[in-house]
Amino acid sequence: MIILGIDTSCDDTSAALLEDGKKILSNVVHSQIKLHHPYGGVVPELASREHLKNIMTVVRESLREAGIKMGAIDGIAVTVGPGLVGSLLIGLYYSKAVAFVHGIPFMAINHLEGHILSIFLEDEVPVFPFVALTVSGGHTSLYHVKGYGSYTLLGQTLDDAAGEAFDKVAKMLGLGYPGGEAIEKLGQNGSADKVNFPRAYMTKESLDFSFSGLKTAVSLYIKKWRGSKTLSSDVTVADIAASFQEAVVDVLVTRVMSARKKVNSPAAVVTGGVACNNRLRAKLMLAATEKDIPVYFPRPCFCTDNGAMIALAGYHRFLNGESAPLSMDVRSRFPISDLSPIH
Ligand code: KG4
Ligand code: ZN
Repeated sequence: MIILGIDTSCDDTSAALLEDGKKILSNVVHSQIKLHHPYGGVVPELASREHLKNIMTVVRESLREAGIKMGAIDGIAVTVGPGLVGSLLIGLYYSKAVAFVHGIPFMAINHLEGHILSIFLEDEVPVFPFVALTVSGGHTSLYHVKGYGSYTLLGQTLDDAAGEAFDKVAKMLGLGYPGGEAIEKLGQNGSADKVNFPRAYMTKESLDFSFSGLKTAVSLYIKKWRGSKTLSSDVTVADIAASFQEAVVDVLVTRVMSARKKVNSPAAVVTGGVACNNRLRAKLMLAATEKDIPVYFPRPCFCTDNGAMIALAGYHRFLNGESAPLSMDVRSRFPISDLSPIH
């Protein structure tokens, strides 16, 4: 069974072909980074126009790479939310048209379910149940994953997402958009304990996150640092990047470990764009290995937005007998609790 997965939820136009829920025949991503770079963040209006311009080429490329024709596809899985409305609409309406013309079903997929399940695109996969942290530019959430379609929210950010904090701090440091990779790269030349930025834990029991205080602390520090000759000769911009990254990583690691303990889950999974971060990978691996807990990260191309994870979610929903009506609309907000279980 071949599923075409499409994601246009934010600034990447992605299409992938997945066979029998495991074999990735192609995974094409058209990034809009260059387009949004001058603005220091995603401009929704530009993003949707760019998706419209590229969706057909990206799908054609994914078919070409897989060496198949549209007629060989058994179903289309498309992200309907959460995300930017204008961007989501392009993917959804394109998918509806193709599904209608070819007489095949289409599945309406939650982007977060795609991120959670992205770990199953790998050869080495966890067994249920596990704790999953989805950490990206738009989300920072912890779930207890008991099976396909069974996700209980354990905690989430009360303000900025972790990736958003990376992007905003990168902007303050003049590193451009998106900032996560740039901060990580710069931070390699800095010292993580040079500046002691705050780690917000709210209460000890809470599994929620907050990054806006950290962002403000970094902003105030940069102001002070720029205005003081002594400080700026002692602390480098790389030290600030490394120290900020360390503060984010510490909170994420602590929360994953607490969540795992709270629900007594045998394993942990980290997905989403920020899961590309090597400092996060190393620190969580270390903390988990000490407790004999296996930790799973998808490879970077499956951490960031991609069509393969959507195709995979679609595959499981397809097997579950699901298909969406042509009247289906996008959902800018789409809580994971609204998802139906997969039997
Ligand atoms: O999953 P994703 O591609 O899109 C969303 O659904 O948001 O994640 C993009 C986010 C951006 O905020 C980017 O700065 C962050 O992931 N990111 C990183 C790294 N690579 C990407 N953050 C920290 N370290 C990285 N190496
Ligand atoms: Zn995403």
